[in-house]
Amino acid sequence: MCGIIGYNGMSNAENILIKGLKNLEYRGYDSSGVALMNEDKIHIVKSEGRLAFLEQKLKSKNILSDMGIGHTRWATHGKPNEANAHPHTSQDRKFTVVHNGIIENFPIIRKELEKKGYKFCSETDTEVIPQLLSYHYHGDIKDAMQKTFVSLEGSFAAAILCKDDKDTIYVAKKASPLAVGRGNRENFISSDVGAIAEYAEEAVFLDDGEFAEIRKDRISFFDFNLKEKEKEFLKIAITPEDLTKGKYEHFMLKEIYEQPEKIKNLLKSKIKNNKIFLDEIAELSLEIMKAEKIYIVACGSAYHAGLAGKIAIEEMCRIPVEVDIASEFRYRNPPVNEKTPVIIISQSGETADSIAALRLANSKGSFVIGIVNVLPSTIANESDYVIPTKAGREIAVATTKGYLTQVCALYMLALHIADIRKTLTDESIRFYTEELLQIPDKISEILSDTSEIKTLSQKYSCKNDFFFIGRNTDFAVASEASLKLKEISYINSSAYPAGELKHGTIALIEKDTPVFALCANERLFKKTLSNIEEVISRGADVLCISQKGQIDKEKYNALEIPHCTDIFLPLLEIIPMQLFAYFVAENKGCNIDMPKNLAKSVTVE
Ligand code: M6R
Repeated sequence: MCGIIGYNGMSNAENILIKGLKNLEYRGYDSSGVALMNEDKIHIVKSEGRLAFLEQKLKSKNILSDMGIGHTRWATHGKPNEANAHPHTSQDRKFTVVHNGIIENFPIIRKELEKKGYKFCSETDTEVIPQLLSYHYHGDIKDAMQKTFVSLEGSFAAAILCKDDKDTIYVAKKASPLAVGRGNRENFISSDVGAIAEYAEEAVFLDDGEFAEIRKDRISFFDFNLKEKEKEFLKIAITPEDLTKGKYEHFMLKEIYEQPEKIKNLLKSKIKNNKIFLDEIAELSLEIMKAEKIYIVACGSAYHAGLAGKIAIEEMCRIPVEVDIASEFRYRNPPVNEKTPVIIISQSGETADSIAALRLANSKGSFVIGIVNVLPSTIANESDYVIPTKAGREIAVATTKGYLTQVCALYMLALHIADIRKTLTDESIRFYTEELLQIPDKISEILSDTSEIKTLSQKYSCKNDFFFIGRNTDFAVASEASLKLKEISYINSSAYPAGELKHGTIALIEKDTPVFALCANERLFKKTLSNIEEVISRGADVLCISQKGQIDKEKYNALEIPHCTDIFLPLLEIIPMQLFAYFVAENKGCNIDMPKNLAKSVTVE
């Protein structure tokens, strides 16, 4: 997805912008560009394709500047070429803009401006912004901004340079994230706080309907009525180690290996008297007692984490849980109210559909618990309560530690709620807590020898269509395992509840169809085994994922994981599946950290 970076300080802006754009690369892009302000003019340099091309072009131009804005574009309106790359300028070259989001009413605005004689050079929706700014500008930049941005429909995070003010970057925000970072006599902006983490010490996210003026030594915030506002900056919680691959070939592998430590730290931070206690939601006891149903709303892997969370919350807390895909929930008029808490799960905290779902839930009176990794972020800021997942910065587009810490946070939440509602005895809570505490070592055990998974990946890399089947917790993992394989190796796969296959999908099973049967769930093992037999008898090539000693390895191909109580199995069972997807993608020579067509945080709906 598109990325924005901006710098205003005493150093060479070009270097800082390029570094920032590199930090944004992982989000996915197809062109890039920068605008650098110096004494005579605003210099614009753009390039199609890799950032290295932009870097080369910039080097040859040798532009001296200490203020500028930059952008990585992921095409939505118009082809991924240089003309459509940002920054865009007004016809009179007064205003230069980079923009994330979508201007939904751009065709009407463009037509009106064209009637007035404005000429457009790109196919983008963004170009209407500098043109409108120029149209409304009569010597007062903020006045032009107000008139421009209130007339735009859709979403925008926009950074603006104006020729008439050589000291300031102006920004505007609605429904697309934009952070402002503060340093020592140098200030930054970015759509992704991680991109400026190595420079800025603290940051604040703009709220919808806000402008900011970024000078070298001062930052001012305004609402869309141009009334000045105070905003609180927070320390950026990203370490420099998060930004490098270390000894690993890919960020994804590094992040897979970080999982035991991340889970351990998350758990340790919340254990009091052998129980899980989430201080973030300590004051929520009354609302939790009154809760009649819980909605879990998320996208992609975060939705799959929700599937695992549902099983735990229903089992431990005896509250019905509905798990919803955010893009469906937001347009469905769901019957949520003050008795139906809504849990929004998001690694990035910036997923557009999840943000919309959060706002809908809030508007209907639900209290929202955000399970979020990136802080600060829009979802963290707007949730009533936040449970941080503490996974650290996740760079690979395919989430691993982000997903696992979400699942773990949901288990912790289930135990916290069960304690409040007294749906589990103290003894059971202690049992589950101890079981959870053993998980990190069991993950390490799986990670300590990956040779068997590597060998299997060689056997399966040439296959085209996979099925992942399972029941209950195993199905929750099957869904995530299937997505992991699809997104990084581009192999088609489907996840199916094992018992549902015979209602139609089994027609697709033929000789050598690869079926990964997740059957570690002890309680349902025999049931899943019958489904395994059903597909074997139709010729499927089955690999079972089971607990140690659970399955007859003479009879079935099986990959074993350490023993674990059923409910927490997703925390272990997904590890070999993440590794399998990784090795298959590696065998196929895929771009593992940045798979095609995908973006790390999906900030458009
Ligand atoms: O940042 P979020 O957790 O809100 O992102 C949700 C999905 O976009 C994300 O999980 C996506 O499915 C990943 N690429 C999966 O690996």
